[in-house]
Amino acid sequence: MPRVIDCRDEGELDLAGCLDALGDRGFDPGDEGSLLAAASALRRLANDRAFLGDMLIEQLKNRHREIGESSAYGAQSIVLSRPRGGCFLRANIWPSERDSCFKSSGARTFVYGVPHDHNFSFLTVGYLGPGYRSDYYEYDYDTAAGYTGETPGLRFVERGALSEGKLMLYRAHRDIHSQLPAESLSVSLNILRIHPAEGWFDQYGFELESGAITGVLNPTATETFLRCAVGLGGAEALDLAEHFGRHHPSDRMRLASYEARALLLGESDADALWREAEASGSPMVAKEATARRGRLAA
Ligand SMILES: [Fe+2]
Repeated sequence: MPRVIDCRDEGELDLAGCLDALGDRGFDPGDEGSLLAAASALRRLANDRAFLGDMLIEQLKNRHREIGESSAYGAQSIVLSRPRGGCFLRANIWPSERDSCFKSSGARTFVYGVPHDHNFSFLTVGYLGPGYRSDYYEYDYDTAAGYTGETPGLRFVERGALSEGKLMLYRAHRDIHSQLPAESLSVSLNILRIHPAEGWFDQYGFELESGAITGVLNPTATETFLRCAVGLGGAEALDLAEHFGRHHPSDRMRLASYEARALLLGESDADALWREAEASGSPMVAKEATARRGRLAA
């Protein structure tokens, strides 16, 4: 499960003070000194019981039409800072089953009951309320090919809740959690590690009974562009897709190139294309290709 970091109550920082403490060094989960310094800054921010409420009230009162690039709002997430030092800060809201947003939008909107890992590491601290609950699992990313239906050896660890003041490090490609609604409205604060290449590393969904991968949860815009370009049918797009299918370093791009081209073909030609994909040299693409051929045959 995520690493619990026992930060002592070291005083209080407001948001500006927390960002100052992170500075240009930011948050590097691979550097123990950076990790513990960032954890301490986040823990002290959590001791400021007023900053988030004050910020939200300020936005509601005066600035609802002036949301700048430094603050983005969604149904669940509030971005608190611009990227700096390879990280940024965010607050997450976790409704209970009794809250109206849960009733109107449903559990999946808040990622409840959607077991997943993360393709980035992050620190999190419970800021308000009893916190979301999670069933925690671990797995070995390095030995997973990443195809749908693969069982990469999930190991159940425990169930826990992100209670107020509890601080944890979620480790990229290792910790899996299946979240359950908080018992009452809760808020967590996060420092998220960002890296330019992280989009190329998969975040998976899982099915807990079988332990199987259900799919990649973070498709890139590049895949979508390729699918659109191929769907529009240009010769250059088809040439590029063929090249990507054979040579692209990302398995997901290779699979996307085969999927996009298969949609343009009849059953027999699509089967031939997926047969080529089976011999592509990528275990992930090969397994997905076999599954597609099975579906075509059925
Ligand atoms: Fe998560």
